[in-house]
Amino acid sequence: MSTATDDRYNKLEKVMKKLGYEKNSLIEVLHSTQGIFGYLGVDTLKFVAKRLKLSYSKVYGVATFYNYFRLKPKGRHNIVVCLGTACYIKGSEKILQKIEQRYGIKAGETTSDEALSLLTARCFGSCSLAPVIVFDEEIKAKVSLENPLCGIEESIK
Ligand code: FES
Repeated sequence: MSTATDDRYNKLEKVMKKLGYEKNSLIEVLHSTQGIFGYLGVDTLKFVAKRLKLSYSKVYGVATFYNYFRLKPKGRHNIVVCLGTACYIKGSEKILQKIEQRYGIKAGETTSDEALSLLTARCFGSCSLAPVIVFDEEIKAKVSLENPLCGIEESIK
C-alpha cells in the first residue's frame, strides 16, 4: 500500500505536523507510529526520516535502541513456549522445533500472513504443569510432544 492511499500515513503526518516536524520529537513520533501501524517497518521509518529531515540510520538507530519499539509485525495470535528448566527437561525445545516447522518461522518471528507470532519465555511459574505453552494468554498444560498444538491450530487464522 502506498503512503498516498494508506490512511495510516495521513494520521502519522498529522502527528508530525502537530509536533512541528521537530527533529527532537523523533521518539514521540516513533511512539505514535507504532501505535498507528503496530510496529515500525522499514517504509514507515523512511517516511519518518524524510519528514523530520533526519537520516534513515539515525531513525533506525533510535528505533532499535529502545526495547519498547517493535520492528516486526505482531501476529493476531501468539504462542509462547516456555524454555525454563522444568519445561525444558520435559521436552519444550522439541515442542518449539515442531511449532517452528509447522509454521515455517523461528522463535521471535511472525508468519507472513501475520496470523501468528512465536515467542519463548523462561518459566511462567507453572512448573508443575510442564511442559507449558501459552496461547493468546491461555496456559496449555502438559503439552504432548506428539501433539504440541493441542487443538489450537484451528484458532490460528
Ligand atoms: S519452567 Fe516452564 S513453567 Fe516453569
